[in-house]
Amino acid sequence: VPFVDREAVEAAAAQADVVEFFYGDPDAELIRLAKRHGAVAGWQVGSAHEAEAAIEAGCDYVAAQGVEAGGHVRGTQSLDDVLEATLRVVTAAVVAAGGIGSPDRVAQLLSNGASAVRIGTRFVAATESNAHLEYIDMLIQARAADTTLTEAFGVGWPNAPHRVLRSAIDAATSFDRDVVAVIGERQLPPFAPVPPTRQAEGAILAMALYAGFSVDHVTHRQPAAEIINELTSSLP
Ligand SMILES: Cc1cc2nc3c(=O)[nH]c(=O)nc-3n(C[C@H](O)[C@H](O)[C@H](O)COP(=O)(O)O)c2cc1C
Repeated sequence: VPFVDREAVEAAAAQADVVEFFYGDPDAELIRLAKRHGAVAGWQVGSAHEAEAAIEAGCDYVAAQGVEAGGHVRGTQSLDDVLEATLRVVTAAVVAAGGIGSPDRVAQLLSNGASAVRIGTRFVAATESNAHLEYIDMLIQARAADTTLTEAFGVGWPNAPHRVLRSAIDAATSFDRDVVAVIGERQLPPFAPVPPTRQAEGAILAMALYAGFSVDHVTHRQPAAEIINELTSSLP
């Protein structure tokens, strides 16, 4: 939301079934825009209070995100706490997000009242993903305890907590040149919030290596369909 482009919202809503917003106070005008162009509109939230505001502003559903999540983290509560609180105040569908990596966890959240689960980090290691292979190798080696919630990768987007591999902060801190990596025409400074795609060239391990607690369950590169089959294997 801090960088939202209305034309992009319109274009997305005309072509995609769902348009979801994240990281800003729920905005009725943006939600109207998405719905007017034919999409189901949602908001990823970090608290029950924000979930209520999103539904009042016109959202069809919300995603409740816990602090275990990889990437930008909106709230301060664990997924179990934010999900329970959100389900108490919202009757619309609630997607659970943050640190979900195993079939048992998926089954548990769905039986606790979530309508769906969101998987982020595990798909970074999918064969179809455009993440840089060195980033994926780091995810395969890392455990949840190797992640940290920080504002470090805040160049151009300050005061926005995010969960990354701690090793990325160490590598960026000891990096002493102005450009950490290049992606196409873009020259990225150290601590830019951009994660390494396969097109990135430079100090890949000093870039924003986003990872959630779910990194515990990243063990190898595998097709997305295989990840989904595994994660749904405990469902009735
Ligand atoms: C590499 C990466 C990039 C992400 N980028 C976005 C994004 O652009 N927009 C967004 O709404 N959420 C983004 N997220 C957060 C996800 O929506 C979700 O909350 C998170 O991945 C769930 O936790 P998990 O990674 O443990 O599965 C990103 C997460 C990761 C790991």
